[in-house]
Amino acid sequence: MNQNSKINAEYLQIFDKLITAQLDRAERLKHDECFTDFTSLEKIIVGIIPGDGIGPVIMTEAVKILNILLKDELESGKIELRPIDGLTLEHRAATGETVPKEVLAAIQRCHVLLKGPTTTPDKNSGLPNLESANVTLRKELDLFANVRPVSIPELGIDWTFYRENTEGEYSLGSSGIAVSDDLSVDFKVTTTAGTMRIARAAFEFAKANGKTRVSIVTKANIMKKTDGKFLDLCYRVAKEYPKIKTDDWYVDIMAANLVNPEIRADFQVFILPNLYGDIITDEAAQIQGGVGTAGSANVGSRYAMFEAIHGSAPRMVADGLADKANPASILKAAVMLLRHIGRPEKADRLDRAVNAASSLLDMTGTPESSSAAEFSDAVLSNL
Ligand code: IPM
Ligand code: MG
Repeated sequence: MNQNSKINAEYLQIFDKLITAQLDRAERLKHDECFTDFTSLEKIIVGIIPGDGIGPVIMTEAVKILNILLKDELESGKIELRPIDGLTLEHRAATGETVPKEVLAAIQRCHVLLKGPTTTPDKNSGLPNLESANVTLRKELDLFANVRPVSIPELGIDWTFYRENTEGEYSLGSSGIAVSDDLSVDFKVTTTAGTMRIARAAFEFAKANGKTRVSIVTKANIMKKTDGKFLDLCYRVAKEYPKIKTDDWYVDIMAANLVNPEIRADFQVFILPNLYGDIITDEAAQIQGGVGTAGSANVGSRYAMFEAIHGSAPRMVADGLADKANPASILKAAVMLLRHIGRPEKADRLDRAVNAASSLLDMTGTPESSSAAEFSDAVLSNL
């Protein structure tokens, strides 16, 4: 056996294992029947995860505000805000686990989570090469829909992004193969059930909220098998919603469309595979005023996790500016959480107060910027 065929045999085995695991998952997805009905719960447990970097700063403000907004229901025991310890970079590095087992177990005893950003150690940090805690939680809790609203009323923009959250390039993101010094290979995964459920979630949202247009975003001209399948299946679901106009775009031109003032306000709801959704939603958030202004919901049929769209901002921390972090993002996530657990009036109240605070204060993240604590004072006085 020459060197190349030895390498081939070894990697064919790895490939075989990966494919078998993905086929098993695709099968399991067809039988997902675990739903949380919040109206039937005696107590709703909201796990509070501070995260890393600027996470604890913005989460402290969010918890302060939720304690006031939900005072009655916290006192009567209808809602519990339950701190979850141990999802910190230090603890994760010490245990060598992306999400330590006992932390995952504590998380699974909650119904929903409000989570600060977590840091993924980079290759040269000297820390264990852990997977992203975010990605692991999305997979472990099967949070398949990443819902990211962006709204700029003065420009007529009201966008809602439905990003597929468990597949695409992220499924096997840590299972790529460095075959040799000359060759590395990563994988991208699209399943039928995984695509159908994100497409259905987007169309159901559109229907329930009087939206008239859904736009599918792929690169199906290049990623023919995975994105091609994603596009076909989204159109198959679209057939069930004849009143909604459906169109599709390649991700590159969609990136351009979002900064095209002639047409951008005409878009309403978007469906995107995981990686394009990651990129396009940062762009959209920046148009709204920065990634510090956007919240994000990770929703599955059983659990849901709400977080800021941005990361832990290690550069801000290194520059001594952590206290200037903008809590608007995590508060927008809290608004989505409140809606998800059936508290729409409280969600609207918080949303209005956050918008009022945002128009009063300059949260630039620079030394001159207002602080996170000043921002939450402004929210509280507008609540
Ligand atoms: C996001 C983030 C995450 C992602 C990171 C932190 C893994 O960028 O939520 O958009 O890539 O999905
Ligand atoms: Mg992102």
